[in-house]
Amino acid sequence: MSEFLKVAVEIAREAGAVLREGFNRPKTITYKGEVDLVTESDRRSEELVVARLQKHFPDHGIVAEEGGGAASRTKYCWHVDPLDGTTNFAHGYPCFAVSIGLAEEGKPIVGVVFNPVADELFRAVRGEGAFLNESRIHVSPVEKLAQSLVATGFPTHLRKKSSNMEYYWQFTLRTHGVRRDGSAALDLCSVACGRFDAYWEFGLNSWDTAAGVLLVEEAGGAVSDLAGQPYHLGGPSLISSNGRIHRELQEVALGVAEHVAKHE
Ligand code: IPD
Ligand code: CA
Ligand code: CA
Repeated sequence: MSEFLKVAVEIAREAGAVLREGFNRPKTITYKGEVDLVTESDRRSEELVVARLQKHFPDHGIVAEEGGGAASRTKYCWHVDPLDGTTNFAHGYPCFAVSIGLAEEGKPIVGVVFNPVADELFRAVRGEGAFLNESRIHVSPVEKLAQSLVATGFPTHLRKKSSNMEYYWQFTLRTHGVRRDGSAALDLCSVACGRFDAYWEFGLNSWDTAAGVLLVEEAGGAVSDLAGQPYHLGGPSLISSNGRIHRELQEVALGVAEHVAKHE
């Protein structure tokens, strides 16, 4: 297990250096969808991560956002987001990361998220706690939704038919505020280290969440879908929190879902 973590940390740091270098140079942006950006750095980082993982673990599967991975018959699969927060990156907003998660039969067991601008490396191994650089991290002690700072995101592929604005509005009315920081992996890490008390989003992919959900769980938090059922990688919705406000979050989410269904 520690070998998996050691390699993932090394690769995340190397990929982070590629991103940091690309961040300081003019960007070449292309479009995967109407507002779904991809840069040269997404591709460079992914090539590096996939090549290194294949070298170290030739029989493991890899699912990587830009399509570089390959399936395998073993129980191990790496879920790689070579640059989470591409829109931020492309606009010069320094909130992005490389995210590398290892799942065993679909369950995350190792997670590494590296923000190369802040030089913050988040890591977790199932059953061994969560860390930011060399310090152990824990979710926040906040007990009430009314005292919380929460976050969400709006996936580009759902932007015209998402009901997330309704959730955004209702959570804004019931919390200290809702942030939209533009990197799902870092949003999850922010829950893990207590900067955010909760984070929810619809339509995330396994590469966005495989590392981050493990960080939240190992930091003492809770992860589920919006209805409170277990979250599966790539599932349609996700709520993560410090655990203490999870039930309140779900109750609000349920109310919004009923309202949305009535007005559809
Ligand atoms: C996106 C970011 C964003 C989230 C989107 C993701 P990308 O990932 O994590 O915060 O709202 O759902 O797709 O495209 O920057 O890797
Ligand atoms: Ca992503
Ligand atoms: Ca990405």
